Amino acid sequence: MAPKHPWWRHATIYQIYVRSWRDSNGDGVGDLVGLIDGLDYLQWLGVDAIWLSPTMPSPNTDYGYDVSDYFDVHPELGALSDMDRLIEEAGARSIAVMLDLVPNHTSDAHPWFVDALSGVDSRHRDYYVWAPPKPDGSPPNNWLDATGAPAWSLDEASGEYYLHNFLPTQPDLNWWDKGVHAQFERVLQFWFDRGVAGFRIDVAHGLYKDALLRDDPSPGPDDHPVVRRRPLRPEYSSRRPEVHDLYVHWRRLADAYQPERVLLGETWEFDYGRFAAYYGTAEQPELHLGFNFPFALCNLAARELAEVVEGTLQALRPGAVPVWTASNHDIGRFPTRWCRDDDRATRAALSVLATLPGSLVLYYGDELGMADVDVPPAERRDLMSIARPEEPGRDRCRTPMPWSQEPNAGFCPPGAKPWLPLGPYRDRNVQSAQADPGSVLNFWRRLGHLRQERRLGDAASLTRLALDDRAWAYRVGSTATVANISDQPCTVVVPGLAGARVLVSTHARTEESLAGDEVALQPWQALVVALEQA
Ligand code: GLC
Ligand code: CA
Repeated sequence: MAPKHPWWRHATIYQIYVRSWRDSNGDGVGDLVGLIDGLDYLQWLGVDAIWLSPTMPSPNTDYGYDVSDYFDVHPELGALSDMDRLIEEAGARSIAVMLDLVPNHTSDAHPWFVDALSGVDSRHRDYYVWAPPKPDGSPPNNWLDATGAPAWSLDEASGEYYLHNFLPTQPDLNWWDKGVHAQFERVLQFWFDRGVAGFRIDVAHGLYKDALLRDDPSPGPDDHPVVRRRPLRPEYSSRRPEVHDLYVHWRRLADAYQPERVLLGETWEFDYGRFAAYYGTAEQPELHLGFNFPFALCNLAARELAEVVEGTLQALRPGAVPVWTASNHDIGRFPTRWCRDDDRATRAALSVLATLPGSLVLYYGDELGMADVDVPPAERRDLMSIARPEEPGRDRCRTPMPWSQEPNAGFCPPGAKPWLPLGPYRDRNVQSAQADPGSVLNFWRRLGHLRQERRLGDAASLTRLALDDRAWAYRVGSTATVANISDQPCTVVVPGLAGARVLVSTHARTEESLAGDEVALQPWQALVVALEQA
């Protein structure tokens, strides 16, 4: 029997961009041995799981999101034996280890693609998506890749184009081919057998492409603003319904393990109904968890947050576990995007993140209130960001973790050169923040432990208690959050609040419980209170 409260239903999952977390050998790149050294910190912080950005061998044209071997560890990051030790040492601290699985595409250096290029009759040719040019020689359809260029590159030898929804070095796999299914089953089992607790599935919405390769349409007025910003709505180049059968199958495979292994999809979907579909049905469950991009990319404003949270919860089937995230290695860090680097706003946002029902994914540095770092164009490392110099790019949110005031922030030895520039670490680093009771780090830690102790996420629903342009108050189980999500003072009235015990407050407070149902809040003030009788 599966336990009623498996960890992933109310987890704090901490995302680690391994190259940027802790470097153990002075090459300026974070690695698994460094990560093992940092496990005590994670235990102190109170996390249930870590998700590591790609760890498999790769030519690094997209830093591991271009895999050349699904059964090993990138030598820059360590060896398989280091991964085994990480799983063991993390397990000893009750921290589950999740890896990143990249099934939408491989590297062009993967032996399958190298073989596919060798001729139209090669064994692995159909592992990839090929199509002849249009009569005028141009690409088969209008699909665009992640840089905005045509998503097709010509293989001169055969005269056919291959598909790449990301970079030309990331050829898309053809999920209509059963051989691809068999390969990935082996990959899942290989890592699950080693004790990996689950996978974050990269581009989970994208695996199948339209069998007829129909043109993608332009976005319409009803599309989400994020979709409208792009020239095309990726309706046929990804997001095909056939992927659901695959996830039903993978879910069975994951659930056959003890404890069950967890599938967390990168579900880039802005329609709640289509997003919820990735969880499958009660009879045929699919992914355990799915990233919620309408939430991650909304604005930090009371009404907008409440609307997205409530909309998500209404769309999900009973038993489906929502996931809340505000930062990652693609979209940037929330202290900058949401909070304009104002720690008061960051504390308010963390109070909300910690108290929503379901699981939470924190990005490394979120716990410090770490900001995006302005990486000058000449120091950019991410090819997709180099291709779009007019955009802020992704390097800004991948800079090294600041551990201390030492030269190189304790990320790598003083004489080494970090692979990306460091931010202003003397002002903000783990060591100084640990010593400062008023730091964002210590504030988060109180929330994180409270979340674990009260199983805050392990609740099916959220009840709105108050909402206006500034304040949002809600109840999850016996815990309520009352937050002023604005830079102006405000007052909230919630019947029944009198006597509630204050568990955490963003601002210093002397009283232990609330005197009445009316609460005056300073700008960005948030309170987490216990509603049960003391
Ligand atoms: C996902 C990853 C991103 C990567 C892309 C291609 O969106 O999060 O970093 O570049 O997929 O694998
Ligand atoms: Ca290293």
